[in-house]
Amino acid sequence: MYEIEALTVERVGALTDQLIDLLVDAVESGASVGFLPPCDPTEGRAYWTGVQRAMTQGHRVLLAAVEDGRVWGAVQLDFAAMPNARHRAEVMKLLVHRQVRRRGIGRALMQAVERAARSAGRTLLVLDTRRGDAAEALYLSLGYVRAGIIPRYARSASGVLEDTVYLYRELDG
Ligand SMILES: CC(C)(COP(=O)(O)OP(=O)(O)OC[C@H]1O[C@@H](n2cnc3c(N)ncnc32)[C@H](O)[C@@H]1OP(=O)(O)O)[C@@H](O)C(=O)NCCC(=O)NCCS
Repeated sequence: MYEIEALTVERVGALTDQLIDLLVDAVESGASVGFLPPCDPTEGRAYWTGVQRAMTQGHRVLLAAVEDGRVWGAVQLDFAAMPNARHRAEVMKLLVHRQVRRRGIGRALMQAVERAARSAGRTLLVLDTRRGDAAEALYLSLGYVRAGIIPRYARSASGVLEDTVYLYRELDG
């Protein structure tokens, strides 16, 4: 059984190869997560180094679903920095490995990220995803509200520009 773990910067260092695999697997599956296939592991390494930097700066939390030292899923929370936005955070890069999708790991990571937000005093969560993706169904099932759609926002692996949907959720006090 996996556990949801809040990773430290050092733990990210120890698990970097697995985090790269997770990202590459998502990109290869056609997910809209910033990168386009083929995703070079060097790009993946640079990405997770950037995440470590954001964690060191104190505005990023990285949660991972780990079983016997293997990373099966991850999600991030980025705290808005401006003085008028200290109640807000962005949920980023929810990823579950293809081998274990549809077993509740994505939902568990989202519930854990909400707990992390609450304990950091962040009560408004925002996120975005490709319109019509499995992730949108997951977010809607968790009570996220569609704020709007930006057409032709991101390029897909096939070169087509696809719509992005923005969602938010206000956590109760
Ligand atoms: C989106 C993603 C994280 C879901 O992870 P998961 O562990 O498979 O999700 P869960 O098993 O917790 O599913 C929870 C709910 O989400 C919805 N859902 C998940 N996958 C779905 C799919 N393929 N089609 C339709 N609904 C889906 C369902 O409502 C599901 O509940 P149910 O299984 O009781 O019907 C996973 O598909 C993924 O990593 N996709 C690629 C990366 C990505 O697109 N991330 C989002 C970036 S914003």
